[in-house]
Amino acid sequence: MPLSVQGLSKAFNGRTVLQGVDFSVSPGELVAFLGANGSGKSTTLRCVMGITAPDAGTISIAGTALDRLQGRELQQARQRMAMIFQKIHLVPRRTALDNVCAGALARIPTVRSLTPLLFPAEVQQEALDCLDRVGLADRAFDRVGRLSGGQQQRVAVARALCQRADVVLADEPVSALDPHAAEQVMALLRELAHSERIAVAAVLHQPDLALRYADRSIGLLHGSMSFDLPSTEVTAEHLNALYAPDRNLAA
Ligand SMILES: Nc1ncnc2c1ncn2[C@@H]1O[C@H](COP(=O)(O)OP(=O)(O)OP(=O)(O)O)[C@@H](O)[C@H]1O
Ligand SMILES: [Mg+2]
Repeated sequence: MPLSVQGLSKAFNGRTVLQGVDFSVSPGELVAFLGANGSGKSTTLRCVMGITAPDAGTISIAGTALDRLQGRELQQARQRMAMIFQKIHLVPRRTALDNVCAGALARIPTVRSLTPLLFPAEVQQEALDCLDRVGLADRAFDRVGRLSGGQQQRVAVARALCQRADVVLADEPVSALDPHAAEQVMALLRELAHSERIAVAAVLHQPDLALRYADRSIGLLHGSMSFDLPSTEVTAEHLNALYAPDRNLAA
């Protein structure tokens, strides 16, 4: 089980935003997170990633609880996770290849990674292979800023691959993309999960995309789990409960 989360809770300024969130993502599985604005989806991913400190809860990677680790061991465990954001975090003036090579930075000695020219040949080859996996080998030497949003998001996926992440967390990876590009990126995430045996968790605001591409869907409602089901079992009632107009009454 690469990713397991138990009892995750978080409050900001005394206001509870996550309460007792439990889920796991297996190797080879794409799991979608659904929920209204403010339901705690991003906070969940940020706590898993270590960007936000949870108040309670255990996050385990491949059976090892992160709160038992320190220093270099914790760093190494965290490097097994990669995050993909809605607002694409790439260096626009650098080539696609350099951006993907950066995914490998954690693995290579600093002195060899100070400038992209020094990326070792084997890293550059691996990065090219990763770009090929996302269908962008022919754009490797283009500056990322010149690629379309959908292409940039595929470069971000290639970077996660080059990091050799076992767990990929994606926060609204397709929200900024047109419908066709969104389908392409969802198909890519599913394909990577299934063929590379990566555990992929993606926050989505499009339930139809989630149900068509994700193996499992998790609904968050006011910071608690509303459902955790195979996507084929998620019904209109489940979705209505998340997005119903009276949802704020209980907040
Ligand atoms: N750093 C912070 N300080 C204070 N409150 C925060 C902070 N981060 C998130 N929150 C609050 O936590 C709640 C959950 O936020 P979160 O960003 O996780 O929601 P979300 O489900 O990702 O929403 P959206 O769909 O709009 O992205 C919100 O009420 C938000 O205002
Ligand atoms: Mg969010």
